[in-house]
Amino acid sequence: MLSYQPALSVAVLKEPVRIDVKVGSRVSPIWIGDGVSERAGALLDAQRVGRRRFVVSNPVIWRFHGEAIARALGEAATPGPARRRTDPILIPDGERYKTLLSVSRIYEALIRVGADRGSAIVAVGGGVIGDTAGFAAATFLRGIALAHIPTTLLAQVDSAIGGKVGVNHPLGKNLIGAFYQPVAVLIDPILLRTLPRREFRSGLYEMVKYGMIASRDLFDRVARDTKAIFDRDPAVLLPAIIESCRIKADVVSADERESGLRRILNFGHTVGHALEAATKYRRFRHGEAIAYGMLAAADLAVARGALADRERQALARLITQLGPLPPVVDLTIGEVLEVIRRDKKVIDGKLHFVIAIQIGATMTIDDVTEEELTAVLERLGLKR
Ligand SMILES: NC(=O)c1ccc[n+]([C@@H]2O[C@H](COP(=O)([O-])OP(=O)(O)OC[C@H]3O[C@@H](n4cnc5c(N)ncnc54)[C@H](O)[C@@H]3O)[C@@H](O)[C@H]2O)c1
Ligand SMILES: [Zn+2]
Repeated sequence: MLSYQPALSVAVLKEPVRIDVKVGSRVSPIWIGDGVSERAGALLDAQRVGRRRFVVSNPVIWRFHGEAIARALGEAATPGPARRRTDPILIPDGERYKTLLSVSRIYEALIRVGADRGSAIVAVGGGVIGDTAGFAAATFLRGIALAHIPTTLLAQVDSAIGGKVGVNHPLGKNLIGAFYQPVAVLIDPILLRTLPRREFRSGLYEMVKYGMIASRDLFDRVARDTKAIFDRDPAVLLPAIIESCRIKADVVSADERESGLRRILNFGHTVGHALEAATKYRRFRHGEAIAYGMLAAADLAVARGALADRERQALARLITQLGPLPPVVDLTIGEVLEVIRRDKKVIDGKLHFVIAIQIGATMTIDDVTEEELTAVLERLGLKR
């Protein structure tokens, strides 16, 4: 009797895909595949990640996925006694807990259970957990091994890759941090099924960003398969995540410390960060602010004659298609410009600004004037 054959793309992707971030002589591997988190113990064993592993997560994520991940981490690659389970270190949910105090709580828990230099931290969560636990790993005993199991789309395609870890300071976001490459990243799109739609969409804008900076094909796929992606259809979502990770891994491998190429990852982030800061990080999810930032960067490029207007329109259409964005009409151009002037991307008084020259290619310019930015922000809808 004939039986139904699954689509080839699903069948061939059964085995996890491995992508390497290469920094100096070190390799930081990423495994991507539906169900890889269920094989976490074996995959981390293969990578010789720490004799003892301590999970850092938050109560929301742990309620959804803790049981399965704890079980997976307890299973070894080769038959033998299961690893002794320890309680996860849970820090409260939310960006406002991305602080040195949370890092200190992690140190305390590690000291109490007798963690040593052979121990590892496994960060299970979104960008907040990954950045905070990552900074703890980078600094505890001058550095212990770090593995990421990212659980938001944003973390899967962006924050868990590239080695930036850190926390916020009361006077500013991400002011304290380090470059610290994980020994392994396990990306399991199945974990995204419990992610609220708005959080999922926030990560999608970063995916659109990868399309804008490096892959028209990825951009077109997100535009064409929007519904299937939102439905988290593995046949569509998994390849799009893989492509995004490949782009980020390639860029970071070429330039870990953001002295050149890595800056292209900041496409949309100059105006995006400024919108986030001007609204005290309360109004926008990160990706939503980046969506506005990309529109601004494309608009500026069109105004300079560097980008065809139909390309800008395609970006605007896709962003509209993905869903509503919080408003910007009540913000003043002045308050946003004020934040841009203090941006980390200002080097020797010059603002480095990434613009698109077509969908899939960018360039960096350092001669953007305040007049240009004012006009762009006005067209974006901000008040004079
Ligand atoms: N290190 C980097 O390179 C880098 C890059 C981009 C962003 N970031 C940082 O990442 C942070 C934002 O990360 P984020 O967008 O992942 O937000 P987040 O970590 O706050 O997670 C968003 C929300 O989703 C919940 N959640 C996570 N996984 C879930 C799941 N599978 N099911 C249900 N709920 C889930 C979380 O508890 C949280 O409430 C910011 O602090 C930003 O600075 C870092
Ligand atoms: Zn970003």
